[in-house]
Amino acid sequence: MACIGVRSFPSFAFSISAKAKPIREAAAGACGAPAEATREIDVESKLTGLRSVELGVPDVASDAKFYAEVWGLATVAEHRGAVYLRGTGAYHHILALHPRPATELLGITLAARSRADVDALHAAVTARGARSATNSAPVSEPGGGYAFAFKDPEGRIFRIIADDARHSDAAPVPDRPERLAHVVLNSADASAATKFLVDALGFKVSDRTRVMDFLRCNRDHHNVAFARSRASTLHHVAYLVPDLDSVMRGTGRMKDSGYPIEWGVGRHGPGNNVFAYFIAPDGAVIEYTAEVEEADDTHKVGGPQDWGFQPGRTDQWGITAPPSARIKAAQEKILFAGDLACSG
Ligand SMILES: [Fe+2]
Repeated sequence: MACIGVRSFPSFAFSISAKAKPIREAAAGACGAPAEATREIDVESKLTGLRSVELGVPDVASDAKFYAEVWGLATVAEHRGAVYLRGTGAYHHILALHPRPATELLGITLAARSRADVDALHAAVTARGARSATNSAPVSEPGGGYAFAFKDPEGRIFRIIADDARHSDAAPVPDRPERLAHVVLNSADASAATKFLVDALGFKVSDRTRVMDFLRCNRDHHNVAFARSRASTLHHVAYLVPDLDSVMRGTGRMKDSGYPIEWGVGRHGPGNNVFAYFIAPDGAVIEYTAEVEEADDTHKVGGPQDWGFQPGRTDQWGITAPPSARIKAAQEKILFAGDLACSG
């Protein structure tokens, strides 16, 4: 992979505590040994993690300003009207905002170990009937790499990439997202969607509940989850922050900036992660999360009978109100792009 030098972050509208907090195992990282690599698993999966989400949004400039000045990312590149934002981890960018008439999910990019594995995964998804798979080719957008894109059985666009640029200054920073933790997708046929990612990409099922399948391609309990729903929409995007205190301080920063908590602060069942949910200006549901459970081949896969909270609770702690009506509506609004325009 390419390795790019240290860059200065722009100044932020919020203060960052100077006191270092305990960091997670996955936080260590340097060029050639990116933070994300510490959670890889030596299974048959050729994927190493969830790299980025590509959104189409009506107002790229104001949306990018929110993600940089409030949410805690940093703009790393602009290209053909799109803005690319990074976390404090090694990935070149974890969010790309492209101009579109309405907010839509253009793609989900998963990192592979090598170009050879990109090609192998291309063969695997094609053999399993993926629609509109593009050929593997060099990527022309910022961050570069070698990738192909395909549609899963419900038409969601995934991209597999390797050899993309990584930052050499990866380090956890209190109150700021390091990288993506997971993407959750509403699915009209979650069982079929899960089977496709398991069979074609080597994902493993970590847990199943009455409403969701949780899948992993590294040691994170889940990188992707499918929620059983009436339609195929973006449920939410979760950003990993260093610790619980960062979830709380980030939540305070969002409240100060006029974005109320839509669900949380709480601790989930599957994944055992702490959470706080909000709605971004583009309409996407976004989550600060921390303390995500690690899972390996000894992980016992739970089923619906294993998960449930006592009446009146929607998390382990029991202090949060249920998800707001606003968040439930937002999770059904953002559709997937119909083309592969973001695959290059
Ligand atoms: Fe989540």
